Amino acid sequence: MKISLVSAGPAELQVDALAIPVATGQPLGPGAQDLDRAMGGVLGEMVANAEFRGRIHEVLPIPAQGKVSARRVILYGLGALHDLDGQRLRSAHHELVRASRTWGYRRLAIMRVEPLGMDALKGIVEGAVMGTFERRSRQTGPAPERREIDDLILAGFGTGREPEVIAAQENGEATNRTREWQNAPPNELTPDALAQEATRIAQRHNLELEVLGPAELKSGGYNLLLGVGAGSARPPRLIRLRHHGNHDAGNASAAVLALIGKGITFDSGGISLKNPENMSRMKDDMSGAAAVLSAIDVIASRKLPLDVMAVIAAAENMPGPTAQRPGDVVVSADGKTVEIVNTDAEGRLVLADALTHALRNGATHLIDLATLTGAATIAIGHAASAAVSNDDAFWTQVEQASREAGDRVWRLPIFADYRILLRSQIADLRNAEYGEAGTIMGGMFIAEFAGAKPWAHIDIAASAWNTNDELTTVLRGPSGAGTRLCIELVEVMARSAKDSWPPASRNS
Ligand code: BES
Ligand code: MN
Ligand code: ZN
Repeated sequence: MKISLVSAGPAELQVDALAIPVATGQPLGPGAQDLDRAMGGVLGEMVANAEFRGRIHEVLPIPAQGKVSARRVILYGLGALHDLDGQRLRSAHHELVRASRTWGYRRLAIMRVEPLGMDALKGIVEGAVMGTFERRSRQTGPAPERREIDDLILAGFGTGREPEVIAAQENGEATNRTREWQNAPPNELTPDALAQEATRIAQRHNLELEVLGPAELKSGGYNLLLGVGAGSARPPRLIRLRHHGNHDAGNASAAVLALIGKGITFDSGGISLKNPENMSRMKDDMSGAAAVLSAIDVIASRKLPLDVMAVIAAAENMPGPTAQRPGDVVVSADGKTVEIVNTDAEGRLVLADALTHALRNGATHLIDLATLTGAATIAIGHAASAAVSNDDAFWTQVEQASREAGDRVWRLPIFADYRILLRSQIADLRNAEYGEAGTIMGGMFIAEFAGAKPWAHIDIAASAWNTNDELTTVLRGPSGAGTRLCIELVEVMARSAKDSWPPASRNS
């Protein structure tokens, strides 16, 4: 999909469809009135009569019958203005593009009118690009249900904003790459295949790359990761990519951000086997890994001025003859003993060793993304990622990144009273909780391995994949949650590093 900015009047645009945003409870925007007049007033009439209500994901094509150059005019909904955050803005444009693909429009224009401001450009482009994602990539039938859009034309956004469009397009494409990996079947996307994807990214940008297999993991003491992978014929991998973005002389104290992803390529539960119902969904248990991989691809190609590493703990959680058992006690890479109460609580185990690996390689700030707990769906559902953090200042940056990314996060508390729930009768920690505050407990287990560094944990178990058919206002299927969050976090941290460099004490 080629995206261009134009300054031509909307009535002159030679396109299959010209799309106009409408918010619930608002009249047709003033910028659309010339177009409405040319159309004989049908647009304003549809809105005034509430035949078109502007609800989110509502998309209505209207034949233009030669009154304007476009073949169709589309009204599309933004929902109520007070509900319109970055995530809903993207979702509305995702749906516009999906519908347009279904109807076969090859050239689509979007006209910016009130209530959308100039600053909506990024969200519109990201959402529109996400709308090109095709989930049925492995169907072989004759005609695809949806066609591709060749040209997306943006009118009314001013001029000279091509760099913003390109960056937003990259963000949207990175999100879709995450979604493709999430959707990839587990017989294809194995731990080794994930390592190969990482290798391709490293080669593309000349990044430092390290892939540890069973022998290296053993000598490094990464027994938690090895234990989770022990029941599978496909051995685990610990993958690390490093982007050196901040090499200024004397900048040795600069931040090194680690983006850490849970890369369980299939989660059967292990000996604590899952219920067969919906077990196939567990192919997406590498969504965190996919998000950090796509993110570092963009971070490196943009040469963002921050040191960033991606660490991926990749394994398959299977109940093979050599699998670990409930009751096993395993020594983590940093020396803590862990009682494996439930082999299905494997995410926190592999992440614990991944955090240790990040710290050993100089990380000063840590963020992990993981499809960690089913309880996240109970706590806040598919519409946002659940989070915990040990550091308010770092969390403020994560929240800002979340807003700029249109990728929602919601922080849950860590009360000291919960800590007792991690206690084991035999070892330093147990890996499964007592049946309450499951999402928080998962995060608190991981926090034990953060070495008192600023850390945030993003549980994307619910947000990475909306399985709820009733929840139609949130994208269905794989969402790529966390991808843009990571990219924007690096943007936010790079900006704040630049603002505070050189330190005041050096200047005086
Ligand atoms: N990968 C699952 C979490 C999950 C569940 C993701 C549903 C997406 C949808 C994770 O490894 C897991 O099994 N967690 C357990 C933890 C429990 C045993 C403490 C869970 O949530 O039940
Ligand atoms: Mn599990
Ligand atoms: Zn899992």
